[in-house]
Amino acid sequence: MTIFAETPRLILRELVPEDAPGMFALDSNPAVLRYIGVPPQTDIEQSRTIIEFVRAQYRDNGIGRWAVILKESGEFIGWSGLKLIRETVNGHSNYYDLGYRFREEFWGKGYGFEAARACLRYGFDTLQLPVIYAIVKQGNTASHRIIQKLGFRFDGTYKENGEEIAWYEKWREETSI
Ligand SMILES: CC(C)(COP(=O)(O)OP(=O)(O)OC[C@H]1O[C@@H](n2cnc3c(N)ncnc32)[C@H](O)[C@@H]1OP(=O)(O)O)[C@@H](O)C(=O)NCCC(=O)NCCS
Repeated sequence: MTIFAETPRLILRELVPEDAPGMFALDSNPAVLRYIGVPPQTDIEQSRTIIEFVRAQYRDNGIGRWAVILKESGEFIGWSGLKLIRETVNGHSNYYDLGYRFREEFWGKGYGFEAARACLRYGFDTLQLPVIYAIVKQGNTASHRIIQKLGFRFDGTYKENGEEIAWYEKWREETSI
């Protein structure tokens, strides 16, 4: 199992089929999906399909979201990572998006920031990406905070399905993290 990054409290590794129960716990909770815009999952098969989808991205794009594991317990607490977005969003296409999603019982402990920072470092230091983008819906205060703490620059908003979404960008040479 490939480990891509490690932080003081977390291991970031490839998503594997055995993560399906953890992924289902994540994506069947409406509170987790409040600012995502997808309906809660109702069948663990949906989680298995998502994991296969992400693993195909590893093969095809060399990158995709990673499982985040708590070192002290070995638990799957969620995912974070970079995704190659091929379609056009807010006038951009073929770009790398930073994202994260954690099980509700693990919120508010700094894991979101810790994991996201490790992913950002990997993108800039290992993949040598010139720029990484992130989108955050209005009202998702914790996510806005993570992105701002990482030093992303707010670059306006765009509308998707009538909803206002903030567009953030961070260039490798702009700041250190
Ligand atoms: C967004 C999310 C990843 C945040 O993860 P987290 O581990 O709780 O975040 P952290 O503990 O690292 O906190 C990050 C910052 O947000 C703040 N914060 C956390 N929860 C907050 C809340 N409910 N309201 C306001 N601020 C909050 C923290 O205080 C911290 O800021 P600080 O360092 O200035 O104190 C988590 O809430 C989540 O998985 N949400 C559902 C999925 C989602 O919305 N993903 C993002 C889509 S853009």
